Amino acid sequence: MEDASTEQNAAAAAAATMPMSRLGAYENAVELVETATEEILLLWALQQPASRRQNLFVRHSSQTLAIDACGQHLTIHQSPSSMSMPGVTGAVMWDSGIVLGKFLEHSVDSGTLRLHGKRIIELGAGCGLVGCIAALLGADAVLTDLPDRLKLLKKNVDQNVEKGNRRGSTLVTELVWGDDLDQELLDPLPDIVLGSDVVYSEGAVEDLLLTLKQICGFQTTVFLAGELRNDAVLEYFFEVAMKEFLIGRVDKTQWHPDYRSDRVALYVLVKKR
Ligand SMILES: C[S@@+](CC[C@H](N)C(=O)[O-])C[C@H]1O[C@@H](n2cnc3c(N)ncnc32)[C@H](O)[C@@H]1O
Repeated sequence: MEDASTEQNAAAAAAATMPMSRLGAYENAVELVETATEEILLLWALQQPASRRQNLFVRHSSQTLAIDACGQHLTIHQSPSSMSMPGVTGAVMWDSGIVLGKFLEHSVDSGTLRLHGKRIIELGAGCGLVGCIAALLGADAVLTDLPDRLKLLKKNVDQNVEKGNRRGSTLVTELVWGDDLDQELLDPLPDIVLGSDVVYSEGAVEDLLLTLKQICGFQTTVFLAGELRNDAVLEYFFEVAMKEFLIGRVDKTQWHPDYRSDRVALYVLVKKR
């Protein structure tokens, strides 16, 4: 029987032969996902997510999350009590949101991504940290979520971007995955689409992909960060997404050095021509 380190060594060797490519607006090379099954095997063998600590950067029992980004001290309000309501997942921050937000800051600082003046849509923004960071980096950011999630989202945007040292612009609005979209969200199509921890149930995957297909043009770059909880759901997402999108995994060495977790994975997607 193979032990964990043999399996990890085999996965590392397989990962070393994966094709690399630049995708969309992101200037670094990423590892191209070739098949959904292989990607899941590699992720779980290399990162061993089930044995890693979750919630490294967040506390779900806390009313606020404090984090420094873009030269500002940000305070993100959470609503731990709402998490007991059925279907509510975005009332607190998740590690993948912290990873994605700090990755954007790190990439802009290191010159591998330009967000200034870019039109960005964030899907399933939850408490809104990622979209706030994008706006502080100069983007025109539209932060979206389900209608009953917008109050907390707006409060966080108002407090951290609108009243702060504002650089880009922000708009908070409803966007339900799978529904017909307002024309103003589609015209013009966004340069960048962001999502953290939005692949978490099989039921939501098809609606999410329907929306992604609608809002992405060939010039749009999607950044998705996800928690490695459920291999079956993620594999299903890859299987369906790969019909329309090229997908590249961003190696952890390219993330913000202080915000790396083996329970999180980060991807760049662009529409296939
Ligand atoms: C696990 S939370 C992640 C929140 C945030 N992005 C983060 O990383 O902290 C998933 C988010 O997706 C939103 N969401 C779930 N289903 C949705 C749908 N059908 N349409 C739009 N948003 C949805 C939830 O309201 C929630 O904010």
